Amino acid sequence: MSRVVVTGRIPEAAIEKLRAEHEVDVWEGPESISREELLRRVAGADGIVSLLTERVDAELLDAAGPQLKVVANVAVGYDNIDVPACTERGVIATNTPGVLTDATADIALSLILMATRRLGEGERLIRSGEAWKWGMFFLLGSSLQGKTLGVVGMGGIGQATARRAKAFGMEIVYQSRSEIDPAIAGELGARRVELDELLAISDVVSLHCPYGPATHHLIGAEQLAAMKDSAFLVNTARGPIVDEAALAAALRDGRIAGAGLDVYEKEPQVHPGLLGLDNVVLLPHLGSATVETRTAMAMLAADNALAVLSGERPATPIR
Ligand code: DGY
Repeated sequence: MSRVVVTGRIPEAAIEKLRAEHEVDVWEGPESISREELLRRVAGADGIVSLLTERVDAELLDAAGPQLKVVANVAVGYDNIDVPACTERGVIATNTPGVLTDATADIALSLILMATRRLGEGERLIRSGEAWKWGMFFLLGSSLQGKTLGVVGMGGIGQATARRAKAFGMEIVYQSRSEIDPAIAGELGARRVELDELLAISDVVSLHCPYGPATHHLIGAEQLAAMKDSAFLVNTARGPIVDEAALAAALRDGRIAGAGLDVYEKEPQVHPGLLGLDNVVLLPHLGSATVETRTAMAMLAADNALAVLSGERPATPIR
């Protein structure tokens, strides 16, 4: 029997699955586990099931010890994990691609609709108790039909967002390291372009690339200036892909029309310059937050951990 540390609460079905084979130590606290407590708990663990709020770096791996075999992240993004440090120590790191694609694309499309149709402003107005009545020019937004969606990062979530946007009548362009499957490009009518062109021609730019050194502040003042002043930026990927101070300035000065954010540069903090702006929709990292999706993520992470602990290949290793 091995010892598995789970760094925060996850759906019970996944804990039961792990407990059927191993000793499982779950952090049940209402707050995220403190670094100190985490370093203490992982000592002697054979497996760690990690949440994206916990940094898995050389210090943590060494605190666990040389018997550690697997770090199973309950997220598709793995910018919280130092993968080379895992590899150097012979620890297999895994993530949860696929199972949260639709939920996250739903949130991207929701943000596109909320930002372009000014839904947050309307909701806040009603709740404020201020007087309002229907008017020809009251809270006018922008239509999506015939507009262009620029998808940055055309993996599974980018493609799922494009598919939804196409159903709303949008044209699709994308920027990606490689061409997507021609059959999918054909189905979506999607054309691959460079980032400069994408920014210049898109009415909505939606970010779906992974975060890392290559994508840190991929969207900064220069890129925001290259967008149409009628365009919207949506980020459901990772906060630091966008220079939040530059975004707040661009939104304040009307250099772009609006934005929808589910993730933040210094999450859970939100840049104070964004909080007072009406033309930005702010969600608290809800991309994968459905009961079904979180259960599927936790089960996949548990399966990955169990596979490695029994000497098998996990379904979704991080390469
Ligand atoms: C992920 O899995 O990377 C998501 O951000 C979680 O919501």
